[in-house]
Amino acid sequence: MRNPREELSSYTAEMSDPVSPEIEALLKEDRSFAPSEEFCRNAAVNDPDIYAKAAKDPERFWENFAKELEWIQPWSTVLEWNPPNAKWFIGGKLNISANCLDRHVRTWRRNKAAFIWEGEPGDRRTLTYFDLYRQVCQFANVLKSLGVKKGDRVALYMPLVPELAIAMLACARVGAVHSVVFGGFSAESLSDRINDATATVLVTADGGYRRGAIVPLKQVADEALEKTPSIKHVVVVKRGFGDIPVHIKEGRDHWYHRLMQDAPYDCPAEVMDAEDMLYILYTSGTTGKPKGIVHTTGGYLVGCYATTKWVFDLKEDDVYWCTADIGWVTGHSYVVYGPLANGATVVMYEGAPDWPRKDRLWEIVERHGVTVFYTAPTAIRAFMKWGTEWPAKHDLSSIRLMGSVGEPINPEAWIWYHLHIGGGRCPIVDTWWQTETGAIMITPLPGITRTKPGSATHAFPGISTEILTDKGDAVAVGGGLLAVTKPWPSMLRGIYGDPDRYVTQYWSRWGREIYFTGDGAKKDDEGYYWLLGRVDDVLNVAGHRIGTMEVESALVDHPKVAEAAVVGRTHEIKGQALAAFVTVKEGITPSEALADELKRHVAQKIGAIARPDDIIFSADLPKTRSGKIMRRLLRDIAEGKALGDTTTLADPAVVAKLKEQYESSEG
Ligand code: WTA
Repeated sequence: MRNPREELSSYTAEMSDPVSPEIEALLKEDRSFAPSEEFCRNAAVNDPDIYAKAAKDPERFWENFAKELEWIQPWSTVLEWNPPNAKWFIGGKLNISANCLDRHVRTWRRNKAAFIWEGEPGDRRTLTYFDLYRQVCQFANVLKSLGVKKGDRVALYMPLVPELAIAMLACARVGAVHSVVFGGFSAESLSDRINDATATVLVTADGGYRRGAIVPLKQVADEALEKTPSIKHVVVVKRGFGDIPVHIKEGRDHWYHRLMQDAPYDCPAEVMDAEDMLYILYTSGTTGKPKGIVHTTGGYLVGCYATTKWVFDLKEDDVYWCTADIGWVTGHSYVVYGPLANGATVVMYEGAPDWPRKDRLWEIVERHGVTVFYTAPTAIRAFMKWGTEWPAKHDLSSIRLMGSVGEPINPEAWIWYHLHIGGGRCPIVDTWWQTETGAIMITPLPGITRTKPGSATHAFPGISTEILTDKGDAVAVGGGLLAVTKPWPSMLRGIYGDPDRYVTQYWSRWGREIYFTGDGAKKDDEGYYWLLGRVDDVLNVAGHRIGTMEVESALVDHPKVAEAAVVGRTHEIKGQALAAFVTVKEGITPSEALADELKRHVAQKIGAIARPDDIIFSADLPKTRSGKIMRRLLRDIAEGKALGDTTTLADPAVVAKLKEQYESSEG
């Protein structure tokens, strides 16, 4: 059988194959689902002409959204484009925390729930917009008292608690740049990120709860703090019930609740330029070191505000739940900034979806009457595996719209989601975007788009995307590389501290004016986009971006490892799983125990999300004559394709033999 991935390989010479094996089935998908008449009638946007109107004058289109927000001083020019550097809303002054809070507390929304939060152990809190406003102002004053000034970097390493959003908004209020580090990352990942940004303050917590266990964040942070000379102060949120041990270092570490006790409630928002930095968020790329993606204030706010409003069709009485952790971009844009800018009620849940039972999420949907639900395909595939009896136990009839993000959604998962969570009545918005894009780029508009299971459909109005060949020719129908051909408000403004890499990574493939996404995609004969996965060395494991190089460096850092190559293989639930081919040093014998040790080592170095699923010992790594690792062969081996019986892999010489066979079969 011909490998469906081969189809795109001509566009991606020298790169990983972009297409997952399921793609063939995906592209045969011919079902489609139109939104109900009632949904269309009430939708935030239901005029299909909006695409043409926005395309005619995208700057005007974005400007109209900007006008719905609160500016201290209006902009004079919408866009200044010196490829690849864009500035949006030139001369405009605003504060994003004032747009998310002050703007609402002056209205009846003052007493509307901003966050409805549930902790994994079952504790609950609701914060109104006024509560949130007051706590953000207080924490902004705390940051000032610790010497934080406009432009300073503050690292946040927290569980999914309201204090994380409070800390982000407080940073934004005083003009400090936040850098959120996902709570699952290791001490080393944390210290690397703190050092790259030279953060002066770290906000963390004693820990968090996950699947009934404690994640001891402060302990991990303590280890990181041994290597972070820039940090002057550490603020510790007390999340636990006294069951999480914490060491407080006199002079450096402060309890959040003590500092908040005396902090004043009044804190005017700092006047920020539209192009002042709002945050840095690290993400994996093709090289070993994660890069700090920089977002600025005005354009980012406009992008998040507009997409949340139109894609999630928010109504005043919606109860909106995006299940992402705030440690990832989805949480930044669609748990915090987008929904709060829209004055929405946002549900937040700290823990695992299967704790204490596999209906935890459905219990939450029922309890709070969630109306808009946004999650990842990897979660949907887990729900499918657990069975329909779990959602069936609950009344999910409040849900009216559902979203998907983070990885391609396979049609089976789409249909299951549609039937068993959406009751067959809710539009599904499959939203494609990236940390770099800041906001949703390709998505249905729920009151307009006829959806097809597995397709993210069309670019959001005002966004210009194309499928290009490697040479830069546009593909009208067919596969190629996904590109963005015009600047957009929420686009990244750079890589922190590395302007060259910004240009080479994103703006060099077809010249300075076209953004390279790193994704392969296909356009069908109705102009629908089908995302096919990464074409670079970035893997997507359970919706998390992981660079193969990062995992390889972690492996070769182990004293027993000589060389390592990491590839992705298909995984039923996680989308992709990590398979690591490892050659050991002279005198070391590969063993099951060593494989476990290496998996632990990677988890320790990077974080549990990067723990390889398979370690395959090999006498040497198959290379081409020019010395490049034959990743395609390794992937085929990892998929079990090049090999009838995987148990023979216990013999390290087997990869060499496979290489021979492979070369002779390729002719
Ligand atoms: C992938 C997450 C297919 C894609 C918001 C992208 C998707 C990477 C989708 C960005 C989708 C995200 N369909 N693939 N709907 N959404 N991706 O930076 O490969 O964590 O490049 O941002 O996830 O991951 P990131």
